[in-house]
Amino acid sequence: MAEPNFANRTLYHGDNLDFLRGMNSETVHLIATDPPFNKSRDFHATPDSLARGASFQDRWSWRDDIHDEWLIEIQRDHPEVWSVVTTAKQVYGDDMAAYLCWLGVRLLEMHRVLREDGSIYLHIDHTAHAYVKTLMDAVFGHKNFKNEIVSHMATYTTPKCHPNERTEASLLFWSCKRLLGAGAGVIRRLGSSTKSYCWTLARSARVAAETTVSTPACSRLTT
Ligand SMILES: C[S@@+](CC[C@H](N)C(=O)[O-])C[C@H]1O[C@@H](n2cnc3c(N)ncnc32)[C@H](O)[C@@H]1O
Repeated sequence: MAEPNFANRTLYHGDNLDFLRGMNSETVHLIATDPPFNKSRDFHATPDSLARGASFQDRWSWRDDIHDEWLIEIQRDHPEVWSVVTTAKQVYGDDMAAYLCWLGVRLLEMHRVLREDGSIYLHIDHTAHAYVKTLMDAVFGHKNFKNEIVSHMATYTTPKCHPNERTEASLLFWSCKRLLGAGAGVIRRLGSSTKSYCWTLARSARVAAETTVSTPACSRLTT
């Protein structure tokens, strides 16, 4: 088995595809990823945060955002992933298909760098949940899906969700490359601040990993 060729406890800033492609295969114990959700919106860091000034566009276009090499790789080497993309294209539209291509090439790299006994946690909301679950099944294998952690999120303005309101129920998948013991569900009420939200996400992943998987806890955070 290859040795890690990256520094532990180090934050790399940039497009994660570039970093993932430089990493040796089967060197990562645990991946916690919180990718964009395909919300068709622009997001800006709040002025009081360390990330102030930073922003990203959570919009995806088949024409502008997809590289030909991604399409070739997926079509040639991963037909099951391509099936998910084409289904999304027919059922939902081009933007979802583009988003799944963008995410798919990254998940394929995450699968490559994950150890045989490794696990991956992925955070997603209702917008692309069903498609991303299917994409994860295509990349990591549906038999390796372990559990889902559903976090009830009140909106930032109202402490309780109205039944008719679009609830931002956030979901965390747990998957791993080979079958391990039965997973434990963790349900938490998230606080209203971004800080407590992020803390809860990271901690939920760590708690579930520590209580159910006999591998060293958290070695890398990939977002
Ligand atoms: C749903 S947000 C997650 C936010 C983060 N987990 C947090 O708590 O602040 C998606 C994040 O993915 C980042 N992102 C978008 N494209 C990326 C890429 N190619 N590589 C790495 N991160 C990316 C965005 O900047 C954004 O911060």
